Amino acid sequence: MKLDDIVPWGRTLGEYRSMFSLSKTDLNASILGCGDGPASFNAEMTRLGHSVTSIDPIYQFSAEQIEQRVRATYETIVAQVKQNSDRYVWCNFNDADQLGQARLRAMEMFLLDYEAGKANGRYLHQSLPSLAFADNQFELCLCSHLLFLYSEQRSLEFHIASVHELLRVAPEVRIFPLIKLDGQPSPYVEAVIHSLPGQWFSIQIEAVAYEFQKGGNQMLKISRRAIP
Ligand SMILES: C[S@@+](CC[C@H](N)C(=O)[O-])C[C@H]1O[C@@H](n2cnc3c(N)ncnc32)[C@H](O)[C@@H]1O
Repeated sequence: MKLDDIVPWGRTLGEYRSMFSLSKTDLNASILGCGDGPASFNAEMTRLGHSVTSIDPIYQFSAEQIEQRVRATYETIVAQVKQNSDRYVWCNFNDADQLGQARLRAMEMFLLDYEAGKANGRYLHQSLPSLAFADNQFELCLCSHLLFLYSEQRSLEFHIASVHELLRVAPEVRIFPLIKLDGQPSPYVEAVIHSLPGQWFSIQIEAVAYEFQKGGNQMLKISRRAIP
């Protein structure tokens, strides 16, 4: 798949649960969703009484503008998925059209929550690699379909600075997937891991239940070690 830049394309709470192997305890943590875009994760979690703050550069725009942008990218993405359908696992979706419809439904759930969430400070216009949060403001940070996936569009320096920033604002960070848009492993995973001193961080690559891009069933889980 070839895209000019990062597209706003949103997933659901169910998908976040599988991508990040979220346990009941995880769901009850204070969560930062980094690059949540038009995902319905925050809306669904809020409805269930959980605490999620989402950041994304698209939150500078109005609901109408976001909807317009998502709908404008719809045909291109669905067409590209059709062209490369052998690169995907067709288990949860029958075909590219059904996938596209699921993404639009997630966006609609997001849009219904967007104005209220913005007023409550749950959708904030912020961007990696620099966030306006205090150290340890959150307990868990989730970053889905941004870091590593867009390795062709964003530099290694951006990835390293972003991961260090996420580990400043939360003691635990999970990133999914670890492959690029073309399904090849991101060349940055090793370098990001090496940038994190082993005595300060516990780092695991874990297999998860979610796999839509073939081979994209791993998340990177980084936890800050407690200082003795
Ligand atoms: C492919 S979407 C994924 C949305 C959501 N995380 C999900 O998995 O459904 C990637 C999102 O990253 C956002 N994004 C792009 N650059 C970013 C940055 N520097 N910091 C935070 N988010 C960014 C985009 O606006 C877009 O909404």
